[in-house]
Amino acid sequence: MHALEIKGSSKVSRLLVGESYKNVNKYLTSSNTVIVADSNVYNLYRDTFPEYKTIKIDTNENMKSLDTVSFIINELIEMEADRGLFLLGIGGGIICDITGFVASIYMRGVPFGFISTTLLSQVDASVGGKNGVNFRGYKNIVGVFNQPDFVICDPDMLKTLPEEEILNGCAEIIKHGAIADKNLFEYLENNHKAILKLESDVIERIVYDSIKIKSDVVNRDEKEKGERRILNFGHTFGHAVEKVTGVSHGRAVSIGMAAAAGLSESRGILTHSDKERIIALIKNLGLPFLLTANKEKILDAMRRDKKREGGSIHFVLLHGIGNAVIENILIKELEEYFTHNV
Ligand SMILES: NC(=O)c1ccc[n+]([C@@H]2O[C@H](COP(=O)([O-])OP(=O)(O)OC[C@H]3O[C@@H](n4cnc5c(N)ncnc54)[C@H](O)[C@@H]3O)[C@@H](O)[C@H]2O)c1
Ligand SMILES: [Zn+2]
Repeated sequence: MHALEIKGSSKVSRLLVGESYKNVNKYLTSSNTVIVADSNVYNLYRDTFPEYKTIKIDTNENMKSLDTVSFIINELIEMEADRGLFLLGIGGGIICDITGFVASIYMRGVPFGFISTTLLSQVDASVGGKNGVNFRGYKNIVGVFNQPDFVICDPDMLKTLPEEEILNGCAEIIKHGAIADKNLFEYLENNHKAILKLESDVIERIVYDSIKIKSDVVNRDEKEKGERRILNFGHTFGHAVEKVTGVSHGRAVSIGMAAAAGLSESRGILTHSDKERIIALIKNLGLPFLLTANKEKILDAMRRDKKREGGSIHFVLLHGIGNAVIENILIKELEEYFTHNV
């Protein structure tokens, strides 16, 4: 087991990679614990689930709503949960985002922790202290920054994940290597087959490296005033692809990363061979790199991106593999490039 820390403004958060979910009791600060669980995960692991009162939630993006927040708060009131409550989220990104948000507002805030059960949530969603829900079609528009006491990332729990969910996590791991760690990138190139077979030691290493990158960035810029934006590599274009085509997040981000790598090459800061390495890795991990759908609609969705400022957008480019840079790029230039090159 390897532990990392995020020193957030609210508290220090411990990220426990390779810890078994069965040891969760070691980390709970109150015996008055209530679990918010993904119902699929509960059904799969019910025999060995921690024995606390459990609120089960069916997960899909529509459930990540203020209605679900109300439902959980109502359950907590019915259970007469007081300030001594510890809220434990067990599930993927949806459960972690909702649980962290409820814990941040229930009785003005109670402590919380996660058992993070998807590859995407282990390397991304449960790390970094962003919690929240969607509202009227706007993703993650209501939320807070608040760190969990701990996040348990147990690689064994990933064995029951559907393949598409593994791919979603792989896209974020490629992102981490591409923006900040060329050794991780090389390791992914050399071990893509073992990753897809979910070999435990390989998974543990890439989860650890990924979390290290994300936690280092968050430690320097918790509230996304600057550097944290590098974590959006592939996401500006990727979000638009996801919205318009409905493909999974990992597939959309992969197309977005290939596009951003191409733009980096065209601006002379990424070599052609490094761009080709990025595309080969995306391909070897079973993810797409080419856009096949309606480009006009995607460009339109990108124009409306919430991170846009006036006529330009903060866009993450690569200055070589392992070194991201944030450029304020004119929307016009992006449109011009994507129209002719993606
Ligand atoms: N807070 C952040 O910084 C942050 C970052 C990235 C993404 N997110 C959010 O995370 C969410 C996506 O998270 P996700 O990809 O983990 O999706 P998810 O929580 O919907 O889980 C994906 C699917 O896997 C199932 N599942 C979970 N664990 C399982 C297991 N061990 N075995 C079998 N099935 C399992 C779930 O029931 C669900 O059907 C989005 O809402 C996104 O906005 C948040
Ligand atoms: Zn993402």
